Amino acid sequence: MIVVTGATGTVGSEVVAGLRERGATVRAVVRAGSSGPAGWDDAVERVAADFADPESLDAALAGADVVYLLVAVHPEMAGHERNVIDAAVRTGRRPRIVLHAAAGVEHRPEGVRFVGSHVSGLDHLRASGLPWTVLAPNGFYQNFLGMAGSVRSGTLAVPGGTGAVSYVDARDVAAAAVEVLATDGHEGAVYTLTGPAGLTHDELAEQLGAVAGRDVAYTALAPEQALAGMLGAGWDPWRAEGMVELYGLYASGQAAAVSPDVEKLTGRPARSFAEFAAEHAAVFRA
Ligand SMILES: NC(=O)c1ccc[n+]([C@@H]2O[C@H](COP(=O)([O-])OP(=O)(O)OC[C@H]3O[C@@H](n4cnc5c(N)ncnc54)[C@H](OP(=O)(O)O)[C@@H]3O)[C@@H](O)[C@H]2O)c1
Repeated sequence: MIVVTGATGTVGSEVVAGLRERGATVRAVVRAGSSGPAGWDDAVERVAADFADPESLDAALAGADVVYLLVAVHPEMAGHERNVIDAAVRTGRRPRIVLHAAAGVEHRPEGVRFVGSHVSGLDHLRASGLPWTVLAPNGFYQNFLGMAGSVRSGTLAVPGGTGAVSYVDARDVAAAAVEVLATDGHEGAVYTLTGPAGLTHDELAEQLGAVAGRDVAYTALAPEQALAGMLGAGWDPWRAEGMVELYGLYASGQAAAVSPDVEKLTGRPARSFAEFAAEHAAVFRA
């Protein structure tokens, strides 16, 4: 039985659906009161648990053979990953853990809290003695849907400097995860999941403009300007500071490399940003 955490989110909901398409026995870990997206079939077992509540995780992981460990971005996310790993150890069944982390996790970048949280989770996983695999996706194309309002008014304003980023479609991340969860032979592997190209934010803005039917200009915000904007918009400070750190990594060019792992795992090329933008043209068009 495959247990999927973070099951109602962007990636997790697609992972559950993809595993069911392959006929796998799936348990989705949801929060109390949630029954998951309407698209899941009735065969998906839903179990309520909270990453901060070890007892609930014991119930959620009981009987697991494989666990997809995806936690949300949160100040306690490293502790949440540890809680799931500890609950997996307590099952006594040595389930295989597929840790959904972030690109760069194996390079242990300093001062990038989102990645650093996954580094800490991975260290804990290695020390647990459980069999493991890591999925390390780059930033998702889907993040741009959250900036659609600004794109519609002709601006892509982020602190991304001039660095290229090999963003990836979250659906390709989910498809790669399904393959790793449903098949054997991935123990100890770190799969880096990227799109097919490293693109600067200038190039991304141009591609968004092409589907939006207007010029979209990239404004390279200074980090402090971006932080002030996010705090002004009511972002949680921990998350806002984390975003600025992440864009600092992007600006440095360290997130530009293209990996073959999506195609290696799924058997088809990773979706391009242009394809993603075209599919969502209505959202980006004023
Ligand atoms: N976004 C990116 O560009 C990017 C890139 C690389 C890696 N990542 C990594 O991807 C992960 C986020 O994936 P995502 O975008 O698919 O997440 P998401 O859409 O934010 O979904 C988070 C999931 O976790 C659940 N959840 C949140 N808090 C919980 C709690 N306390 N107990 C139990 N479940 C809880 C949510 O449930 P509800 O639906 O009930 O809230 C939801 O199912 C993070 O680990 C992040 O570091 C993200």
